[in-house]
Amino acid sequence: MDLEEARLKARALREQIEYHNYRYYVLDDPVISDAEYDRLMRELQTLEREFPELITPDSPTQRVGGEPRPGFTTVRHFTPMLSLANAFDEESLREFDRRVRELVGGEPVEYVVEPKIDGLAVSLYYENGLLVWGATRGDGEVGEDITPNLKTIRSIPLRLRASGVRRVEVRGEAYMPKAAFAELNAAREEAGEPAFANPRNAAAGSLRQLDPRVTAARQLNIYVYGLGLVEGPVLATHADALAWLREAGFRVNPGHRVCDSIEEVLAYCREWEGKRFDLPYVIDGMVVKVNSLDQQRRLGATLKSPRWAVAFKFPPEQAVTVIEDIIVRVGRTGVLTPTALFRPVRLAGTTVSRATLHNEDLIREKDVRIGDHVVVQKAGDVIPEVVRVLPERRTGGERSYTLPRECPACGASTVRLEGEVARRCPNMACPAQLHERLIHFASRNAMDIAGLGPKIIAQLLDRGLVRNAADLYALRYEDLVGLERLGPKSAQNLLRAIAESKDRPLAQLIFGLGIRHVGERAARVLAERFGSLKNLMAASEEELQGIPEVGPKIAASVVAFFAAEENREIVRRLERAGVRTREEVRVRGDLPLAGKTFVLTGALERFTRQEAERLIAELGGRVASSVSRKTDYVVVGENPGSKLTRAVALGIPLLSEEEFLALVGEAGRRS
Ligand code: IVH
Repeated sequence: MDLEEARLKARALREQIEYHNYRYYVLDDPVISDAEYDRLMRELQTLEREFPELITPDSPTQRVGGEPRPGFTTVRHFTPMLSLANAFDEESLREFDRRVRELVGGEPVEYVVEPKIDGLAVSLYYENGLLVWGATRGDGEVGEDITPNLKTIRSIPLRLRASGVRRVEVRGEAYMPKAAFAELNAAREEAGEPAFANPRNAAAGSLRQLDPRVTAARQLNIYVYGLGLVEGPVLATHADALAWLREAGFRVNPGHRVCDSIEEVLAYCREWEGKRFDLPYVIDGMVVKVNSLDQQRRLGATLKSPRWAVAFKFPPEQAVTVIEDIIVRVGRTGVLTPTALFRPVRLAGTTVSRATLHNEDLIREKDVRIGDHVVVQKAGDVIPEVVRVLPERRTGGERSYTLPRECPACGASTVRLEGEVARRCPNMACPAQLHERLIHFASRNAMDIAGLGPKIIAQLLDRGLVRNAADLYALRYEDLVGLERLGPKSAQNLLRAIAESKDRPLAQLIFGLGIRHVGERAARVLAERFGSLKNLMAASEEELQGIPEVGPKIAASVVAFFAAEENREIVRRLERAGVRTREEVRVRGDLPLAGKTFVLTGALERFTRQEAERLIAELGGRVASSVSRKTDYVVVGENPGSKLTRAVALGIPLLSEEEFLALVGEAGRRS
């Protein structure tokens, strides 16, 4: 392939990949499989490796940052990033409305109400359609340049899907979804690292990483909610701005609504307060903004916050209860986690009766004792935790607690490794660890073995029937039927469930192995990249680190896991037992325009250029920017340019808009 061909190829691949990013991450409506997407990405990476001069800053390969940086530089915002005044009750919101209407001279006022996402404010600066930098708010005037980290968020367009934009600053909230937060903290506790207090801290910590690969592994997302500097789009209202942002390729929260009166605003806020705990992300209130941009300008801002907006804050969900006991759980990597058992209370939508105390340092810092009255809350609406003790309610009968120096399960001396907050049982064969590892292996998101719960696993371990995951596949009916709570029928069902689990997707098996730091998402990435356990076992640390979304920790941990002969033996035995250890290649009918290259010239009547390109890409075709011998069709619209001349000279088939329509119409029907 010569350079020019490579350039065209790279461009087509980039457009396709960004289009699929948009479908997946913004519209939440993918049109190709993950494997297919991966293939495109690999193709582009290979091409860019061969022709490094073709790498552009908006190439999707640039989303997974390069080398860690020594520190952050700063950028100056073109328009300051202000914060919001708060309203803590309905009366303050009505007061805000009265003030606004008075200041605009009694004109009618419309409001836009949006959820207030609890994350980190960021600004994205685009010049001539290209992302130039992304930064934190900082002091509002100057922020930290975190461009490589923000680029890892796939719903941030590297190039706007809108034309005629000279310069624009897009403002939004980067955040960590609740599920990602729960997963991250669970992994951190197992690894003996301090947990993040809430998803906001987790998001901030992830974005302020000097190594963008770590950020990439953190599953961050963004909702954009406004503009700073605007040179290009002409907008009259905030609602227009949100619509424009969506058109331009950004993720805008669909929960925004235009309201005619403050009563409607209040009703809408109440509606969201009622469903806040069911959302996949944390909100700590609603933001109310004057819709008319002209009115916004006239209202202006104080030094700190605009007069045209206010944050209506929801009360934090906390409750007071009494700690009845503190127990300790030995996790699958040996970490001892203290858990407080307390009188059940309602919290953020559910009844809770236990909360993690994280580690011994936290127990000491908070001075938590058995019998204490404590304030509890759910961190990020997800994980219950003890906020603080109410010492004024102590009676003198409270008992302090220290983590045991001996493992409660096997009696081994517990250790605390340098730099870790966790105390661990170092005994790999500790029955509590085996128990947890097997529970994990059988769990729904791993091998999904119905009926293999903690109680059965405990009995299997006690009787020496299993010691690791591979042993499960050697179990016989006679082994099971004698167990407590397991009649002949259940024993048979369990055997069937174990047999069925042999056919789980590779990603679930990798997750089930319980490799430290390898959560569900990392497991999926690894499964897709390597296609089999054999390949994964053979991977070097460098190879692993070269994968987007695989940070240095995951890479080291995978290598360490498979370096242990015990684990290799388990894998070999799983294979021998007939457990599927390779990914089935997903077969997809070939796309109808696969392998066909199109060039567009002139204006089409029924499509914009972008729509036509998208359509071709969706059907598997490619769009090139210039005509060559490799071009299959040139689509000719009104006022075609020199591409037509060249097409005629080379004898490339020409398609009118009608013929193009007929082709894609037919192809669309076939696919
Ligand atoms: S508008 C000048 N809209 O809340 C107005 N902010 O203290 C700028 N936030 O720093 C903010 N969701 O980080 C706005 N829909 C939303 C928001 C939102 C979250 C954050 C933002 C801001 C803070 C307000």
